[in-house]
Amino acid sequence: MAIALIIPDRKLDDLQQRLQQALPDTPIEIWPQLSDPAKITFAVLWKQPPAVVAQLPALRALQSFGAGVDGILADSTLPRLPLARIVDPALTAAMLQYLSGIESYYRLRLDFFRDNQQQHLWQPRSPRKLKTLCVLGLGELGAATARYFQQQGYTVNGWSRTPKDVPSVHCFAGTVQLAPALAEADLVICLLPLTPQTENLLNANVFAMMQPGAIFINVARGAIVDDQALIAALDSGQLQAACLDVFRQEPLPAEHVFWSHPAILITPHTSAVTRVDTVVAQIAENYRRSHQGLPLLNQVDLNQGY
Ligand code: NAP
Ligand code: GLV
Repeated sequence: MAIALIIPDRKLDDLQQRLQQALPDTPIEIWPQLSDPAKITFAVLWKQPPAVVAQLPALRALQSFGAGVDGILADSTLPRLPLARIVDPALTAAMLQYLSGIESYYRLRLDFFRDNQQQHLWQPRSPRKLKTLCVLGLGELGAATARYFQQQGYTVNGWSRTPKDVPSVHCFAGTVQLAPALAEADLVICLLPLTPQTENLLNANVFAMMQPGAIFINVARGAIVDDQALIAALDSGQLQAACLDVFRQEPLPAEHVFWSHPAILITPHTSAVTRVDTVVAQIAENYRRSHQGLPLLNQVDLNQGY
């Protein structure tokens, strides 16, 4: 019985040490240096190379190292095993801090002043009057975001797949209620998971449902957005600005048109990054549960893909 950490793009010493402290009797190994693949019963995954997990015959359960699981499920050879994801108050707090900063950036017109500074232009303006906000996705992060901005004085609409009840938030559900959820929003924040149903969901039709001059923020996944439709909506003025933290291809290729678009603010997938210190306990608990035949904490619905 051993745990494999299959997270190619990250230094893993800290995660390995902390997991070892939580599970002193369990070998914690870092892929690709696995002493015996046949002994791996639990794998912690993030951006794992395709077909690697399928080569571990004794696996009982899988753990995403992030909130999203789209990258893990994209591997068509992945064995159909219980899969858990991260739900963590520290991750939610980081997302709210990021979104609060981005909201202030636009409300205070820092985008406009930054552009003016480049032209040595002195043009005082009062803050933008942003009143209504729509959150696409009312799960762990979306519902917290909706509650946060409602407390800041916004009228908040939220949209989900199934009906939800979030106090003081106007909740909409399903395809037919997407248009009314978006219609009056000054700010639209995407916190949907990437699934076959949400891929390219935010296309020209959906940007046309938004209020002219809306500001769009994507902190979910790049492939939920049709890139060309987003550029067209910005160029026509249908959207006033967009803040993008996530992209179809990451890192965003140097030649991508998003980099130089004057209405786009780019951050490199930094809005809410998993913290080793705050997630080790739930990963260790899920390892124990997988060996006791218990449901995992924060288990993903494999049929829905999130
Ligand atoms: P979650 O708890 O699983 O919530 C997902 C929400 O999206 C739910 O409300 C769900 O509806 C809704 N949804 C799913 N499919 C839908 C559809 N077809 N139509 C309408 N609504 C749909 O996820 P979360 O923890 O809030 O995280 C959301 C996403 O944020 C993650 O999947 C990840 O991609 C992204 N993320 C990004 C960062 C970053 O650093 N940029 C960090 C963390 C997470 P129901 O409530 O009806 O199920
Ligand atoms: C980050 O993008 C995550 O899904 O945790």
